Amino acid sequence: MRLDDRLETLLADMTVDEKVGQLGIFADMLRPFAADVNPEMNELNAGELRERIRAGQVGAVFNGVGAAQGREAQRIAVEESRLGIPLLMGADVIHGMRTVFPIPLGEAASFEPVLAERTARAAAVEATACGLHWTFAPTLDIARDQRWGRVAEAAGEDVVLGTAFAAARVRGFHGDDLTADDCLLATPKHFVGYGAVIGGLEYNSVEISEGTLRDVHLPPFKAALDAGALTVMSAFNDINGVPASAHDELLTGVLRDEWGFRGFVVSDYTADFELVAHGFAGDEREATKLSFTAGVDMSMQSGLYATHLPDLVASGEVSMDTLDEGVRRVLAVKQAIGLFDNPYRSLDPDAEAALDPQALHGELARDAARRSIVLLKNDGGVLPLRRSGQKIALIGPFARDRDNIEGCWTLFGDKSQYVNLEDGLRAALDDGGALTVVDGSGFEDAIDGGIEAAVGAARDADVVLLAIGEPQNYSGEAQSRTRIVVPPAQQALAEAVVATGTPVVVLLRHGRALALHGAVRDAQAILATWFLGTQTGNAVADVVFGDYNPSARLPVSFPRDSGQQPLYYNRQRTGRPELPDMQEFKSRWREMPHGPLYPFGHGLSYTRFEYGPVALSADALDWDGALTVSATLRNAGDRFGEEVVQLYVHDRVASRVRPIRELKDFRKVALAPGEETTVSFELHRDQLAFTTRSGQFAAEPGLFDVWIAPDCESGEAVQFTLRGA
Ligand code: GLC
Repeated sequence: MRLDDRLETLLADMTVDEKVGQLGIFADMLRPFAADVNPEMNELNAGELRERIRAGQVGAVFNGVGAAQGREAQRIAVEESRLGIPLLMGADVIHGMRTVFPIPLGEAASFEPVLAERTARAAAVEATACGLHWTFAPTLDIARDQRWGRVAEAAGEDVVLGTAFAAARVRGFHGDDLTADDCLLATPKHFVGYGAVIGGLEYNSVEISEGTLRDVHLPPFKAALDAGALTVMSAFNDINGVPASAHDELLTGVLRDEWGFRGFVVSDYTADFELVAHGFAGDEREATKLSFTAGVDMSMQSGLYATHLPDLVASGEVSMDTLDEGVRRVLAVKQAIGLFDNPYRSLDPDAEAALDPQALHGELARDAARRSIVLLKNDGGVLPLRRSGQKIALIGPFARDRDNIEGCWTLFGDKSQYVNLEDGLRAALDDGGALTVVDGSGFEDAIDGGIEAAVGAARDADVVLLAIGEPQNYSGEAQSRTRIVVPPAQQALAEAVVATGTPVVVLLRHGRALALHGAVRDAQAILATWFLGTQTGNAVADVVFGDYNPSARLPVSFPRDSGQQPLYYNRQRTGRPELPDMQEFKSRWREMPHGPLYPFGHGLSYTRFEYGPVALSADALDWDGALTVSATLRNAGDRFGEEVVQLYVHDRVASRVRPIRELKDFRKVALAPGEETTVSFELHRDQLAFTTRSGQFAAEPGLFDVWIAPDCESGEAVQFTLRGA
């Protein structure tokens, strides 16, 4: 690639050390820093970092915050270094900055990419006001094994849903003008396949077919780049024995040669250094060479590039052209976001002082949170509750808690604004005194007398809201679990409270799908509330008391048991599929049916939606044509509601066996009571394409099933034929 004359002149003037300097990003010790999200390595103190910046040895810093101190760091880079190249300032702004939105998995449950675009935009406005240019988000890892803790950070198990949210979040972070003060540069991560770690075990190997890699894990990244992303973060895991951060076929072959990506790749934290631990590099010098020449342009935190690249270039093992190409990519991105023309963009202390996150985004946070809540069950219509005339017991360790509201990967949340469950529910009641609050148990340990107090409160109440689930440190990075269940102390609390016979509504807190057992599973009603962020209590109250009719649907399958993992809806049929009436010598578990407790796409409403039969515009789809697939949808209940209408297909026969169902489109439809509409989707051949046996990405003519349904297991299929060219 060639830069403009100004940058080409700058590049020509750079020494090797200055060029290498642009390829290093280090923890931002010059301002308040989020220290506990990474292991310690190569920690530079503030003085050392300042000196390196003056020497032109730092291309970027990360996870520090504050406009004034960021401005001073930039001043050193621009005014005190020889060439005055501005710094990029990044951070993990994953689901909000000061205002915290639901974890990305929860937000994906909204099935509203536009909502994710809005919350990403809000995060960008706040983050850039606080002295940041760049976020290491969105996380795009498709995750089919809920034992993996980072399933919380992305959009779940489905590639179409994940792809839609990928593009939406990049658009939201970027806004309309990359050079604007409130543009936050996105970083699709972790490239690639990280969500497929074997056994859901963090940092584990990934063994994956080319077809699954290309049909499931790569598409969200392609969509993110098509939406304008200019940086990508490489992953920790190896893929079929080649570490992702040294995988030239993917980092160069796919990203650059196939997709034409012109931005830069930043490694995950010390991922280049970890090539030695992988056993892929014999030493740090070889790790540097393998990572850089494979296509990782910028090294995060390890310092390997600064130490070894100059020598590798001097010895000719890395050509000057290769070095220059990496530097060009970084300079081009800095130019694209306006740093050369306006190096102090997003570093305005007055803007930070004037920022009022609550006024700006409090309502959005509440709306995003309530739109992420999934009503899993509601036996006897126990929900919504009345605001008056009944005694409510709020029981469980999350009732009053404020430390598990934000969810994993929240570095800069304004905790003073957090609304916990007790706050939100009491504020929503006509008489706040009608709410009794009892912890009942700790997150992991029983409380002396806790269950007795909880049982007493339950007996004395008309209904129990049981606030239980995973503490937030059970999900996120390095938090894989063997049993994805409610912690035993809380399960015991649930058993005792449900045994009183008082109706129980479970307010589940979780960073992944959970295997629900016993009294938790059998409670009258269950709301899946993920980690909802700043407005947790108000959003839950809005749903519990019916001010908002829950409209979210599951982006991940809820299993019957941890032992079913990995469990996902779009699996292959196998040669001996489990059939309802035939179970011997079939693909099933001895202990239980193969399927989930609650399937992908599932979610109830306080109203009732009725689907008409699927109608096709023709019984065949021409090779270059379009097929319109429609169904009527009626709100047959007595209140306004929103339904996520889902379009699924199944390719009956193909050169590689195809999933029993695949989501191809979805739409959230709002209907008043009694209102009816026709929901139509257009199907095209490219939506039926997959990596065929010959390695081509193509559709194959033949018979297909198609559904319009409320989840991945419901609906009546109709058939159509895809005609050949
Ligand atoms: C972490 C994470 C990555 C994050 C980076 C910087 O290890 O894997 O998602 O952006 O390091 O904190």
